[in-house]
Amino acid sequence: MMTDHPTVFLHTYGCQMNVYDSELVGSLLTTDGFRLVSHPEAAQVILINTCAVRDHAEQRVLGRLNALGTLKRRRPGLLIGVLGCMAQRLGEELKNRAPAVDLVLGPDAYRRLPGLLRERLVSGATAAFCAGDPGETYGDVAPARGEGVNAFVAIMRGCNNFCTYCIVPYARGRERSRPPGELLDEIRRAVENGFHEITLLGQNVNSYRWDETDFSALLDRVAQIPGLRRLRFMTSHPRDLGERLIERLAGGGAICPSLHLPAQSGSDRVLEQMNRGYTRAQYLDKVRRLRERVPGLALTTDLLCGFPTESEADFEATLELMREAAFDDAFTFKYSPRPGTRAAKMKDDVPEAVKLQRLERMIALAREQADASRQRLLGETAEVLLEHPSPRDESEWTGRTRCGRVALAPGSFQRGAEVRIRVEAIRGFSLWGKPAAPNT
Ligand code: SAH
Ligand code: SF4
Ligand code: F3S
Repeated sequence: MMTDHPTVFLHTYGCQMNVYDSELVGSLLTTDGFRLVSHPEAAQVILINTCAVRDHAEQRVLGRLNALGTLKRRRPGLLIGVLGCMAQRLGEELKNRAPAVDLVLGPDAYRRLPGLLRERLVSGATAAFCAGDPGETYGDVAPARGEGVNAFVAIMRGCNNFCTYCIVPYARGRERSRPPGELLDEIRRAVENGFHEITLLGQNVNSYRWDETDFSALLDRVAQIPGLRRLRFMTSHPRDLGERLIERLAGGGAICPSLHLPAQSGSDRVLEQMNRGYTRAQYLDKVRRLRERVPGLALTTDLLCGFPTESEADFEATLELMREAAFDDAFTFKYSPRPGTRAAKMKDDVPEAVKLQRLERMIALAREQADASRQRLLGETAEVLLEHPSPRDESEWTGRTRCGRVALAPGSFQRGAEVRIRVEAIRGFSLWGKPAAPNT
């Protein structure tokens, strides 16, 4: 069964941090002689990188593992590994829920993956759970990125905020920043390899710190890297977003005018119960400052409905906050209790039907706001960094504007070309316009 270059299929669920982690895993495996393949059928190893943020995310993974169990009965030598946040949350317990699983590795344990896989491929031993090193940052691992114009770079790992509903601090451990020198090297290399746009990742980038370097100082250094055209970051915590960062967003250059600032709720009482560390007024005050200082800013958010004790009035306060903030887009969720979190000890007292109905109202308003935000751009010019031909129509290319909106331009281009369009129409969720003169 063992070949020189065992084949691995790796599938990723969850957030950008998981996408980045899968690139680290890809790198660790290929460095060790494994070969990544793009279809599961022929792979000797199937790895699933998982998300634990909501019950729904976990159910999807369990469904997938169930199907893989069927595949494994046909191919008994197949190795199945579960990585990521759900692996860390459930540990050995995962084996009871999905008996086909051979390996369970949390986000800090990936260095052990190649060795464990080789052992299993040779000896066929049973499931192992590894939590890994809580200080791990994978500083020396060069992520194996696919093709594209945007590269994710994790500037920190873990989270110390313990929002009461959230599993992330348990699944990803304590917050740790990576040294600026190492980050600058990684970003320089990515830019040299054709990634014109960099997105810095962390659960709360505003609390990045290494000695004297805080997040604003890091941004200043990254923004100066030659060849880097666009710099984005996520996620910002409203409590820690300060005037200095607002200045950076206003300053232009490589730093793009887009900001993801999760509000979660518009009710002070609920925000307090969530341990978010800000009030509605403080949140809206930051939004006001941002709108004043950063014209054209695309402001997006995350919102959560149906948190325990949320009343109709609390929920309406969230809708009202949405209106006041005039978000350009919003990711909306209904609360799902995560075992082990503080909120999970509270009674999950908002009935499912009410949660769903609130979610639908939030979605409707978010759509309206996103539509209005795109409509406002009609007639404006926008710089589009082109990524690939449109899957719907090969005679057009798709890319993103500086504020992060998807845009289409008719014509044939090269990946990474930047064109200026005058927005003439909205096609679906995309801006559309003919390119004026190429910038590059
Ligand atoms: N670190 C980021 C992202 C956290 S997870 C942040 O602080 O914003 C992404 C989103 O998932 C959160 O913003 C929240 O809106 C949602 N989420 C987290 N836990 C949840 C839960 N238990 N139920 C439903 N949604 C949840
Ligand atoms: Fe979760 Fe809050 Fe940390 Fe975000 S800041 S990952 S919501 S605990
Ligand atoms: Fe991301 Fe999900 Fe983990 S949102 S950090 S993959 S729990």
